[in-house]
Amino acid sequence: MFTLDAFQITKVPESRLKPGMLDQPVFGQLPTDHMFMASYRNGQWEQGEILPFQPIQLSPFTSCLHYAQTVFEGMKAFRMNDGNVNIFRLDRHHTRLELSLNRMAMPSLPQELFREGILQLLDLDRNWVPDTEDAALYVRPFVFASEAQVGAKPANEFLYMVVCFPVVPLFQKAIRVKVETHYRRAAPGGTGAAKCGGNYAGSFYPTKLALEQGFQQVIWTDGSPEFHVEESGTMNLMFVMDGKLVTPPLSDTILDGITRDSLLHIARAEGIPVEERQITTAELFEAFEKGILEEAFGAGTAAVVAPISEIVWDERSINLPSVTANSIQMQLKKSLENIRRGYIEDPFGWNNIV
Ligand code: COI
Repeated sequence: MFTLDAFQITKVPESRLKPGMLDQPVFGQLPTDHMFMASYRNGQWEQGEILPFQPIQLSPFTSCLHYAQTVFEGMKAFRMNDGNVNIFRLDRHHTRLELSLNRMAMPSLPQELFREGILQLLDLDRNWVPDTEDAALYVRPFVFASEAQVGAKPANEFLYMVVCFPVVPLFQKAIRVKVETHYRRAAPGGTGAAKCGGNYAGSFYPTKLALEQGFQQVIWTDGSPEFHVEESGTMNLMFVMDGKLVTPPLSDTILDGITRDSLLHIARAEGIPVEERQITTAELFEAFEKGILEEAFGAGTAAVVAPISEIVWDERSINLPSVTANSIQMQLKKSLENIRRGYIEDPFGWNNIV
C-alpha cells in the first residue's frame, strides 16, 4: 500500500537540462530528468517512486501491447509571472482519468497518489518549466496493463507513470480541416469519452489520409445522416456563430476536454452567450452563407486554441477570415493564459502552485 510522504526518490546525478533546450521543443521528444512510477498488484497500488527518466523492461506477453488496455491524461504546468510553477486543473484531470480507467476496466487510482506524485515530480523538475510566452511543461500521466498474460481479459497488474516534456502549442498557424464522412472516431456506447490509447490509434489512418490531401486535421462527425460535428482531430470543436460561442454537447462520443470546459467557464463569466448543442454540418455551411459563422477553432490542452481557416465538406468549402487579437477565440485564450500564469486572479480555483 502506498503512503504519501514516503515516495522513494532517486535523483539524477546531473540534470540533462542545458541552455537553449527549452526553445521551440518538438512535441513529446524531450523528457525531463525524472519520472514517477507506481505498480498495482494483488488488488492495490504499491508505493510510488520518483526515479531518473529511463526505459522500462516489459515482457512480450504484456497485456497492454496486445489489447490496448491503457489510458492517459495530458495537462500542463506553467511558469507564473512571479516565477512559481502552476499545474493547471490537476484535480479535474484526475476526475477524467478515473472515468477513463473505469470505462477500460482498470483499477481506480487514488486522488492523493495522483496529486502528490505529480506535485513532487514537478518540484524536482521545476527548472524544466519554460518561462517563455506560450511555452509550458506538458505532464503526461498514464496507466497501462503491465501483466504478462495474453488472455483477452482485464489484467490484474498495472503500471501508473508520469513523464513530462517541454512544449509550445500545437497548430500555431490556422488549420485546414475536412469533414470526415467515411471514418468515425467514436460510436454511441463506445469508448469515445475515455482518454484511451485505442481512440488515438484508430484516428491515425483517417488523419494520415487527410494530411496527404493537404489538411491538418479532420472534423469527426457522429456518422448520422445529418453529420453532427463532434471533435476536430484530437481537439474539441468550437464555433462563434452570431456572436455566440457554440460547441457540441458532451456525450459518450466526445471527450470532456478540460480546455473546452475552461473556455466555456471563461466565456460565461465574460458575458459571451454559450450554447452547448448539436450542430449539423449543413448548419455550418448555411451559417457561413448567411454571414453568421464568424469563427471556428479547436480547443485542447496541447494546442490550447487552434484557429480553423478552412472547412471542406466533399466539394464545398468555407473560408474563414484570419483571426485577430479581437477574435473571441483569442480573447478567451488570453484570459485563460492570464489566469494560469497569474496575471489575473484565478476566480475558479484552477491553479495548483508547486
Ligand atoms: C492534448 O491536447 O493534450 C491531448 O491529449 C491530445 C494529444 C494526443 C496531443
